[in-house]
Amino acid sequence: MSGLADIAAVKDLLQKRFDTLETKGDILKAPELKGLFSAIKDQPAEERAAFGQAVNQLRLELEEKIQRTQDADIEIEPIDITAPWDVNTGLQPLLPAEQGTIHPLMQEIQKLSDIFERMGFAIEDSREIDDQYHMFDTLNFPKDHPARDDYDTFMTVETDKDGEPFVAPAHTSTMQNRILKKYKSNLEKGEPIAAVVPDRVFRNEDLDARHEHTFYQVEGVYVAKNVTVGNLIATLQEFLNEYYGKELEVRTNPFYFPFTEPSFEFALSCPFCEKAGCKVCSFEGWIELIGCGMIHPNVLKAADIDPEVYTGFAWGLGIDRLVMMKNGIEDVRHFESAKLDFLRQF
Ligand code: DAH
Repeated sequence: MSGLADIAAVKDLLQKRFDTLETKGDILKAPELKGLFSAIKDQPAEERAAFGQAVNQLRLELEEKIQRTQDADIEIEPIDITAPWDVNTGLQPLLPAEQGTIHPLMQEIQKLSDIFERMGFAIEDSREIDDQYHMFDTLNFPKDHPARDDYDTFMTVETDKDGEPFVAPAHTSTMQNRILKKYKSNLEKGEPIAAVVPDRVFRNEDLDARHEHTFYQVEGVYVAKNVTVGNLIATLQEFLNEYYGKELEVRTNPFYFPFTEPSFEFALSCPFCEKAGCKVCSFEGWIELIGCGMIHPNVLKAADIDPEVYTGFAWGLGIDRLVMMKNGIEDVRHFESAKLDFLRQF
């Protein structure tokens, strides 16, 4: 035995043999390895140390290899993560093996998105953090206007470049300016701007059966030449007829929103009792469901759209209320509760 090349050759040989051995520890007894060790003393003085180190290194590697196969052989008892729940509380395991179902709100968002898509609207997402510029400024809320407070907006401690806190969007209207800008080129082609935004919004509300801090709206925006209130009403009525699968009466009441002029609250005849009066409509026969109106000229201007040439309408519809009515759900807080007993019903 002489030289490092011999070590490399033995290493190669032993690694191959290792795979064939039933008792992996036997590799340390290989005569070739023993031969390397006894050859250390025969090395020329100046090479002896390096040679010795390399032989020891090879032995170490083989020992580690043995250790790794032994680790892999140990059978690890699976830990039953459901046990503490069953034993201590009788609760269901957190992650049952059975297939889940789609959350009732998501089912409905899918359904109403499909309808709006068939009506020619693009579907857009909102976001979960936004700035005051989109939450208020572009929507014609003057600075320090009391209407800003109506929205119970969650705000961050951090501020943007203007020194204003960021917001958790309190309505999907925060997307209006972005939609107008994104689709503005449609107008030049003689096509309308038509988009809906079904997404999550947040308000710092006192929670009760009708108020939740997190809920869903679907915003709609439509802009073209010569758009009128008649188009707004026809669009919403068409949507509701399609959604409920029957012809419903609709009604508008005057209302105030800074971003629409005129503004309306849009009500439909109760789809469940057909105006006879029932629990769902609080025996009124009508259900107020949608805030809407003709887009304020300042909102169009904020997106560089000329309000002298183009007009449009917008709306915001509360999805939770829609789904609650449809399914007879009495408490809005069920939606965010992650209670399996509730979710399994859908
Ligand atoms: N953003 C309003 C709210 O959450 C709802 C709304 C009203 C949206 C009128 C609109 C609109 O687009 O035109 O209370």
